[in-house]
Amino acid sequence: MPRKLCKIKHIFVTTLALFVVILIYILFYENFNDEDEFIIVKAIEPYDDDEISPSNLVNFTNFQYKIKPDSLCNNFEDDLLGVLIVTSYVGHDEVRSAHRQALTQQKLQSLGLLRVFLLADIPPSERFIQQKSIYDESDRFEDIIQGNFHEAYRNLTYKHVMGLRWAASECSFAKYIIKLDDDTVFDVFHLVNYLENIESTVVDVNAHLLAGYILDGKKPIRLQASKWYVTFEEYGEDIYPDYLSGWLYITNPQTARSLVAESQSQSYFWIDDTWVTGVLRQKRNISLTRLNKWFSANSQFLDCCVSDVRRHSFKCDYHVGPNGGDVKLIKDFMNAMENCYENECFERTSEQSVKETCVGHVKNIIGQHGAAVVKSIKL
Ligand SMILES: *[C@@H]1O[C@H](CO)[C@@H](O)[C@H](O)[C@H]1NC(C)=O
Ligand SMILES: *[C@@H]1O[C@H](CO)[C@@H](O)[C@H](O)[C@H]1NC(C)=O
Ligand SMILES: *[C@@H]1O[C@H](CO)[C@@H](O)[C@H](O)[C@H]1NC(C)=O
Repeated sequence: MPRKLCKIKHIFVTTLALFVVILIYILFYENFNDEDEFIIVKAIEPYDDDEISPSNLVNFTNFQYKIKPDSLCNNFEDDLLGVLIVTSYVGHDEVRSAHRQALTQQKLQSLGLLRVFLLADIPPSERFIQQKSIYDESDRFEDIIQGNFHEAYRNLTYKHVMGLRWAASECSFAKYIIKLDDDTVFDVFHLVNYLENIESTVVDVNAHLLAGYILDGKKPIRLQASKWYVTFEEYGEDIYPDYLSGWLYITNPQTARSLVAESQSQSYFWIDDTWVTGVLRQKRNISLTRLNKWFSANSQFLDCCVSDVRRHSFKCDYHVGPNGGDVKLIKDFMNAMENCYENECFERTSEQSVKETCVGHVKNIIGQHGAAVVKSIKL
């Protein structure tokens, strides 16, 4: 009897051991898989949850999206070259329409790009826009991100940070993020060509990238009469860190995440490009890449380029600039540049530079080039 009992016990123990081994194997295997998934999820997860609360945008603690289309970027899988985030006043529907004509959805897609417009809420003083028409525009084009803070000059920093945050979290696999203003005229073909051939030297050890028009050694304006008057309380130093013009700059999701994280711990400053690409960037030790040669502050030069393509098939010396209030220029410039991209255009000699050929048209603004103009035209 004891022997038989012993045998049963032996079988029982062996079975149990086998069962435990199988169980451990299954658990381990499952765990292993879980961990794998965990890593993947982590990699596309933009922030640690405790780093940034979704309802905190800089010092605004009630932040929400009024409009945020679902998974816009997911249609791209992993061939998304760039996300264009375009700051746009909520009432600028005509300007947005010009951008949509200049670069159609189809064209954007063929270039590996996605474009969204960044809007804020309709301010109480505004009489000409209804939220309903913004909802309709969004239903139709699916390219609008709207925050719940009011449109205001001094709220632009919220908009800027919202855009970086949206792009970094919703399009985390995009290679690049391009920040633009809606009154910026640009050559998308030149941009794409640059992005596709970007040199590894412009990306720092942490894969950070910030490239555009560098404004160096700028000082806060302390004249009370100026629209750009900055109090010592708003900005205490005598000089701004080098920063990029908000007309157009190139960054990537990695950098955007870092800047957004930094925005939670620095005090709000309303000059958005100075704060984001200057102050926050400097705190994170991110370096700037100079693309100043791309830019012209004179919209007339870009206008001249359009006619010079038509008449002489000349390339343009510039690739980015303000529209100078001419909404049509956004489309005309893009079409002219597309022409050069598809059919060959000629390099200009130094005598043929647009500064020379355009002199007749723009005598009055020659010599006003530079940061003063960059800033005063900006809004
Ligand atoms: C954020 O900080 C700025 C600058 O100190 C201030 O003017 C603004 O009212 C603050 N916004 C909120 C929502 O607290
Ligand atoms: C910025 O947005 C907030 C929240 O909507 C609003 O209370 C504030 O008045 C806006 N700022 C300005 C300068 O209008
Ligand atoms: C930036 O660089 C400074 C000086 O080299 C260093 O003390 C600081 O920790 C760095 N900050 C970050 C966020 O890497």
